[in-house]
Amino acid sequence: MIRAFVRQGHEVRRFAATNAGLTANNLQSALLVAGMLPMIMLVVNTSSVAVVWFGGHRIQAGLMNLGALTAFIAYIMQILLAIMMSMYVLMTAPRAAVCAERIQAVLDTEPSVRSSVQQPHLRPAPGRLDPARPATLAFQGVGFSYPGAEAPVLADVSFTAASGTTTAIVGSTGSGKTTLLNLIPRFLDPTKGRITLAGHDVRDLPWTRLREAMAIVPQHSHLFTGTIGDNLRMAAPAATDDELWAALETAQTMRFMSDLPLGLATPVGQGGASLSGGQRQRLCIARALLRKAPLYLFDDSFSALDYDTDTRLRHALAQALTATVIIVAERISAVEDADLILVLDDGRLVAQGTHRELLETSATYREIAESRSRWTARRDGRGGSRGNGVQVLADGPKAPSPPAPLPAAHARSRRRHLRLRSPQCCGPQISG
Ligand SMILES: Nc1ncnc2c1ncn2[C@@H]1O[C@H](COP(=O)(O)OP(=O)(O)OP(=O)(O)O)[C@@H](O)[C@H]1O
Ligand SMILES: [Mg+2]
Repeated sequence: MIRAFVRQGHEVRRFAATNAGLTANNLQSALLVAGMLPMIMLVVNTSSVAVVWFGGHRIQAGLMNLGALTAFIAYIMQILLAIMMSMYVLMTAPRAAVCAERIQAVLDTEPSVRSSVQQPHLRPAPGRLDPARPATLAFQGVGFSYPGAEAPVLADVSFTAASGTTTAIVGSTGSGKTTLLNLIPRFLDPTKGRITLAGHDVRDLPWTRLREAMAIVPQHSHLFTGTIGDNLRMAAPAATDDELWAALETAQTMRFMSDLPLGLATPVGQGGASLSGGQRQRLCIARALLRKAPLYLFDDSFSALDYDTDTRLRHALAQALTATVIIVAERISAVEDADLILVLDDGRLVAQGTHRELLETSATYREIAESRSRWTARRDGRGGSRGNGVQVLADGPKAPSPPAPLPAAHARSRRRHLRLRSPQCCGPQISG
C-alpha cells in the first residue's frame, strides 16, 4: 500500500519522528544515570575518606582500636552499596510500573462471552448435537450492540432456518451480515433475544460442542503457514489424503491443485500470501467441507470467484451438503435458489422469503436485484428478461467500463449496495 500510494517519504518521516522521540527519552534517562553515578561514587569515597580521617585521629588519641575502624569501614561500605542499588531500582521503577499496569489490564479483562462450563448456574443442554443430522437454527428477537456503540448493529432479528435448508443473507455493506453470523458460534453474544440450534439455546452449550456442530468459512480467507494439507486438516485432523482430495474437488480447486507438483505438501505462505484470493477462498471452503457438521456458515465466501467457478461450486456444494446452510452473498445470482432469503438493511431484517416472493414484496430486495441486473445489462450491452421484470443475472469475469450514472431513484440503492453494483471491486482474481 505504501509503495502503491507513493507514501515512502511520509512513512520515513513518521518513523524518524517516532524514533527521534524515543532517542530523546533514552538520552535523557542515560544522562541522568551518567550524572548520578559519579555523584554516588563521590558520596561513597568522601564518606570512606572521612571515616579513615576521623578514625585515624581517634586511634592516635587512643580512643579507638584499629579493628573497630576496619569493621566500621566495612559496615559503611555495605550501607552505601545498598543505597546505590536502591537508586538503580528507583530509576527503573517507572518503566516497570508502566509494564505492570499493561499486564494487569490484560489479566483483568473479563471475556464478554462465557462458556456454560464457566457458568455452572446455566442448565446444561440435554443430549448431543448429532453431526449427521442437519440442525434447525432459530433467531428470536435478536439484537446486538458493540460495546460503546451508540446504535445497535442488529435489532429484533427473528427467523428460522429449517433443518437441511439453505438460508441466504443479503444486504448492503455494513448492514450487519458478518455480525449476525458471528453470533451463531458465539464469537459474540446477543445483547437481546436468543439463538437456538437444534432446540438448544446456544448459550447453554459448551463452546466445544457448539463449535464442533458447525463449519465456518469466514469472510477473510485466512490460511496458516504450513502446507495445504496442514491447513485442511485444521478442520479434521484425522482426515485421510483421499478425503482431502474429495473436499478439494467439491470446492473446485482441481484446476490449480493439479498444477502443483507437491500437491497437498505445497507450502502456503503466511496468511496464504502465495495464493490468489480465489484460490484461498476455495481452500477455505474445502477446509470447511472436511468437517461433517449439521450447520455450515459461508460469509461472503464466493466473492473472489468468477461466475463459472461460482456456479460450479454452488452446484457441487448443493450435492455434497445435506446440512443446514447459511450463506452471506453479495451476488443475487448466488442466492436465487435459496429456500429462504433474509434481507438486512441497517441491522434490521426488513424482509424474508424466497427470491420470487421477495421480488414481489420487498422494495429493498428489488432495489438490490435491479441495480445488479441493470449493471449487468449495461455491461453486456443487452437486456434479458426473466418475465418477472428482472433481467437475467450474468456475472462475467471482467467489466469493460464503469456504469453510467443512474437515475436519482436508484442512487440511494447504489450507494448502499456498493459491492453488489460492481464486481470490479471483488471480481475474479483466480488463475486456476
Ligand atoms: N468490532 C467492531 N466494533 C465496533 N463496530 C463494529 C465492529 N465490527 C463491525 N462493526 C460495525 O458493525 C456494522 C456491521 O458490520 P458487519 O461487518 O457485520 O457488516 P457486513 O454486513 O458484514 O458488511 P460487509 O458486507 O462489508 O461484509 C458496521 O457498521 C461496522 O462498522
Ligand atoms: Mg461482512
